[in-house]
Amino acid sequence: MSENRTVQKAAGLQGEITIPGDKSISHRSLMFGSLAKGTTRVRGLLRGEDNLSTLNAFRAMGIDIDDRGEEILVHGKGVHGLQEPGDVIDCGNSGTTIRLISGILAGQNFFSVVTGDQYLRRRPMGRVTKPLSQMGARFWGREGGTKAPLAIQGQPLEPIEYSSPVASAQVKSAILLAGLYADGTTRVLEPHLSRDHSERMLRHFGVQVDSFDGGASLVGGQELLANDVDVPGDISSAAFFLVAGLIVPGSELLIRNVGINPTRSGIIDILQAMGGDITLQEERTVGGEPVADLLVRSSSLKGIEIGGDLIPRAIDEFPVVSVAASLAEGTTVVRDAAELRVKETDRIAAMVSELSKVGAQVEAREDGMVIEGVEGLGEGDVVSFGDHRIAMSMAVAGLVAGQEIRIKDTGCTATSFPNFWDLLTSLGAKVSA
Ligand code: S3P
Repeated sequence: MSENRTVQKAAGLQGEITIPGDKSISHRSLMFGSLAKGTTRVRGLLRGEDNLSTLNAFRAMGIDIDDRGEEILVHGKGVHGLQEPGDVIDCGNSGTTIRLISGILAGQNFFSVVTGDQYLRRRPMGRVTKPLSQMGARFWGREGGTKAPLAIQGQPLEPIEYSSPVASAQVKSAILLAGLYADGTTRVLEPHLSRDHSERMLRHFGVQVDSFDGGASLVGGQELLANDVDVPGDISSAAFFLVAGLIVPGSELLIRNVGINPTRSGIIDILQAMGGDITLQEERTVGGEPVADLLVRSSSLKGIEIGGDLIPRAIDEFPVVSVAASLAEGTTVVRDAAELRVKETDRIAAMVSELSKVGAQVEAREDGMVIEGVEGLGEGDVVSFGDHRIAMSMAVAGLVAGQEIRIKDTGCTATSFPNFWDLLTSLGAKVSA
């Protein structure tokens, strides 16, 4: 759905907001709940379009998912309880849906076809179809089975020890899920630790998963037992408000219910290293995941160098980090982040082109960006490239623009953050359609 929004320069954002559920954890609660024996109650599920793609996929495979508003009941049928879907599974814009589901479908004794929207069909799937084929599953797809639509004939699987060339939780999770259907130990090694929600939630469902320095492993043939899941707020959604609170002068925001899993909390480390005043309050554990409320106050930021292990810990946050860096004093360098080029869009190219239109000094590198801070941004017309995080990052830029930033194609924010605009205006921002 293509919409447009205009965001005006803001005077100061004040107030408290509660961040909606984590997208990654919401996907896994639906998937693992479907594969578990018994009923899983999920509270705080994100109802973003991506998660609805996962929900519809499992309904199409015979799982009864009962939406009661406050909570969702997933009536799981066990690891061997899925039925062959009668039609193509549409994963929409969701990389997590298509890649994790491919791992599950690899081990089923039926045929399935998965596809997605124009953006998902451009993204690399060889990173999962290659190791899953090595385990014995059969995949067909465009460009030698590396682009969706993908047709999958599940097979009895062999375990694998796989060294992933990229730090990707989607790759790691797909292989571990296929490993549940293999006879023996499946091990995934990764160059840097990616988010570990699958490992944590599989354990929450009673599966023994070994996490070690450099990867994770599990033994096939284990059952999942239903267990309730409380989904914490998504730090990747909170990130837009963290940056907004820092760069809009005179702001003070309390952002409640934010998941601060150490494999996801790189954005807090980055913004604090830039000089951002962010305080963690009421630290607690919700459903096996650490959570806190974050207090953020406007700050003068300075440029820093970002690379290495920090990249996967903040992988979805670089569009909004580039906005913060544009307003920081000095130079920010982002390196080791070539993965940004294969997200919902090429996020390096997208942020360089759109921020440049409003007066930022950003240069692309093959694996990152170099950003020279400027005094302020100008007004202008920008596009989202259909990418939710580009749209929301440019909205944050609009809060500090000369007068306003007009953003084209903002319907995509519903992918991960359906009430983003409402929360933004509740804090005093002026946004018009
Ligand atoms: C996700 C993993 C990350 C992230 C994506 C969600 C997940 O992707 O960018 O938004 O839920 O596992 P990669 O695995 O491709 O890094």
